[in-house]
Amino acid sequence: MNDTDNVCLCFHVSHGKIRRFLQREQPQVVSKLSECLDAGTGCGWCRPFLKQMYQQWADGQPVQLTVNPASYATGRDRYKDRGTPEGNSADA
Ligand code: FES
Repeated sequence: MNDTDNVCLCFHVSHGKIRRFLQREQPQVVSKLSECLDAGTGCGWCRPFLKQMYQQWADGQPVQLTVNPASYATGRDRYKDRGTPEGNSADA
């Protein structure tokens, strides 16, 4: 993903917005990312990915999701259709 790709597709919160939120706000817990334009508070698909970004930041690593935006969006569509977390992993 690049900074203009949306991580939270429900609320159109981009990779860059989340990355900058982490740098600016220094959140103590991953759930604070919801204060970044409600990221993660919709369908829930993006939560594992938000957690991965948070962990990268907390570990002092570059914050970067290495997922293809098109397959990410397709996975989220399937997730919403099925209502299950199948395929909803930041490790996939
Ligand atoms: S994609 Fe983030 S809550 Fe639905």
